Amino acid sequence: MVGMGPKKAPSRRGSYADVPHSLMGQINKLEYLFTVSGEKLKEITDHFISELDKGLSVEGGNIPMIPTWVMEYPDGYETGTFLALDMGGTNLRICEVTLPEEKGEFDIIQSKYRMPEELKTGTADELWAYIADCLQQFIEYHHEGEDLGKLPLGFTFSYPVTQHYIDHGILQRWTKGFDIDGVEGVDVVPPFEAALAERGVPIKLAALINDTTGTMIASHYTDDMMKIGCIFGTGCNAAYMENCGSIPKLAHMKLPPDSLMAINCEYGAFDNEHLVLPRTKYDLVVDEESPRPGQQSFEKMIAGLYLGEIFRLVILDLAENPDVRIFEGQDYNKLKKPYSLDASFLSAIEEDPFENLQDTHDLFTSKLDLRPSKPELELIRRLAELIGTRAARLSACGVAAICKKKDLQPCHVGADGSVFNKYPHFKARGAQALREILDWGPPPEPVFPPAAPGGGRLARRGSASSQTNAPPKEPDPVEVLPAEDGSGVGAALIAALTLKRIKMGNVAGIKDPEAMLKLFGIQQEKRTVEVR
Ligand code: GLC
Repeated sequence: MVGMGPKKAPSRRGSYADVPHSLMGQINKLEYLFTVSGEKLKEITDHFISELDKGLSVEGGNIPMIPTWVMEYPDGYETGTFLALDMGGTNLRICEVTLPEEKGEFDIIQSKYRMPEELKTGTADELWAYIADCLQQFIEYHHEGEDLGKLPLGFTFSYPVTQHYIDHGILQRWTKGFDIDGVEGVDVVPPFEAALAERGVPIKLAALINDTTGTMIASHYTDDMMKIGCIFGTGCNAAYMENCGSIPKLAHMKLPPDSLMAINCEYGAFDNEHLVLPRTKYDLVVDEESPRPGQQSFEKMIAGLYLGEIFRLVILDLAENPDVRIFEGQDYNKLKKPYSLDASFLSAIEEDPFENLQDTHDLFTSKLDLRPSKPELELIRRLAELIGTRAARLSACGVAAICKKKDLQPCHVGADGSVFNKYPHFKARGAQALREILDWGPPPEPVFPPAAPGGGRLARRGSASSQTNAPPKEPDPVEVLPAEDGSGVGAALIAALTLKRIKMGNVAGIKDPEAMLKLFGIQQEKRTVEVR
């Protein structure tokens, strides 16, 4: 039937034909600044591998490489009812996850609570009180009058948290723009539990987890080829399974060398020494003006929180630069407000299907009171593509580094986060970069050839879905795929795995196993490993 085929993404050919010479020079400069070649990606990846190793060493390095005490993959037969709490950047999500007998199945009910913006820079007490109030509301709504005993909770707290135990964790430092006093350097669990106790909420934390670890575990639950969990969202990070014998900084724990340990890499901190990343002057400003200068260098070039800001800084520079002066004669004051543009602004520019970039023009008018000329719109579009492409290509270095280090090919990578899920072409650009880094040979058709120098037609802009008539292609040796819900199902699974291993006698990384046994009414079955 006509019109019933797969939906083809609109593509735009674009043209630099009417871009004046001077502005074309600016476009070329930006292309030079923001393009990362395949060779450079390989250099970054090689350095990344040595930094991953360094993070596992006793001396440590830039990348924290945090052992999480998640010591096995789920086998698909985990059962029980668990709560999961996810403190994300914009929302607080509470889930009740039921894992039935059937392999790889789950049921979930959930509520979302908006995190007030003031909370991000407020006090620790306000934070814990807010979270405890939401949990209380959730329990009252779903279980009024029921005797719940103590419900085990998996708490997804996605920041660099040093974990001597799975059920405790010291926040090293805030990331992703958070700046709450009195939490850094402190074990986050006691004040959280105190706030629950104060309200008489019948919940006991079984595991404190990172979103990446949850993503890896939840994804592996339904697809055992999933070996890495990644987040490309407000922040950027990954987790994978390491052998305890390859973690020198845990040697003193005398864990069996071939037992597993999920590592929360916290690789947003990659290259804080600034040895390999091709930082532009705009990246330096993003860093200097952030609440934690010098931290999260990798993340600041690729994560959703920063993409719009990098874009804003470039556009503002071009408006102020006397040799360029885009928006000549217009009031560009609104462009001066830090973080006023977010990644969805860039996404919308990249998604504009019209040759005359009318949507982009309207976006600039409604958001910034600006009316860019057609040539300026071409520059704006190219800049969005460059920033989005750089982010996707650099992101691939972290994934490639883990795959190379652990010799994981073939494997699947479970990915989540707003940038991965919503940013146009992010997946295809990342896959292309992986192909270049890991030497898989040329793709069937380039996704984004570089724009013709000096003007002429722009590169074809398509998407994977515009190639629907192509013969089915072999899957890539490493496929980055949409993940299962890590901070809901993943957190619940990790709580289940924790209780399961306490029951089996593996109490490594459990602060007070006796208390846990009592609290959750667990009978211990046999003692296999007992390292504390
Ligand atoms: C930041 C956090 C990290 C988290 C990532 C993705 O990098 O430090 O813990 O996994 O964002 O949310």
